[in-house]
Amino acid sequence: MGRKVILYIAMSLDGYIAKKDDNIDFLTTVETPGEDYGYASFQKGIDTLIWGRKTYDKILTFGIEFPHKDKKVYVLSRSRTGADENVEYISDVQALINNLRSKEGLDIYCDGGSELVYELQKHSMIDRLIVSVIPYLLGNGIRLFREDLPEQKLKLKQSITYPSGLVQLWYEKDN
Ligand SMILES: NC(=O)c1ccc[n+]([C@@H]2O[C@H](COP(=O)([O-])OP(=O)(O)OC[C@H]3O[C@@H](n4cnc5c(N)ncnc54)[C@H](OP(=O)(O)O)[C@@H]3O)[C@@H](O)[C@H]2O)c1
Repeated sequence: MGRKVILYIAMSLDGYIAKKDDNIDFLTTVETPGEDYGYASFQKGIDTLIWGRKTYDKILTFGIEFPHKDKKVYVLSRSRTGADENVEYISDVQALINNLRSKEGLDIYCDGGSELVYELQKHSMIDRLIVSVIPYLLGNGIRLFREDLPEQKLKLKQSITYPSGLVQLWYEKDN
């Protein structure tokens, strides 16, 4: 296979990626000095990112320098078009992926949120899922996998257990 679409995301044990008000403080419970949960190594294999517009807006609130200046970043939106200094807005993620796959390049990182995951999974377009399960019950919030996605059989490639209690699950499509 050529370029893969890879979801790399963290969720609470009860399946949420954020509270309803976009609070993601539960992620700090596994922050460990010197441990990046494979993130830097994962970054080396990708040259393109896709975010949902709400995720991009959340990242902008961090007040940090834009973290992916060396990569192409697309943001899925109905309300915005064109580009800003960091990203290019797109409205048809399926067309984008088909276009990217027709060209040479590294893998494509889907960072979320759940609306973007929904749009991709509706068409079974995620090839690999790397899900970091945080030992935390959030109670309510934004579900990683929204209801009514098509069924899909997956293959577990590996699971990595970290001392913090985070368990990282690597799945691939099992067609
Ligand atoms: N735990 C983690 O690792 C993790 C990772 C990523 C994100 N998050 C969190 O997830 C939350 C955001 O997730 P979310 O699901 O609410 O939003 P999202 O997927 O980030 O973005 C939703 C936006 O995508 C656009 N969109 C959705 N479907 C579309 C379609 N069919 N066509 C065109 N545009 C479409 C819309 O933008 P417009 O409104 O502009 O039209 C919509 O408002 C944030 O709190 C973020 O911090 C957590």
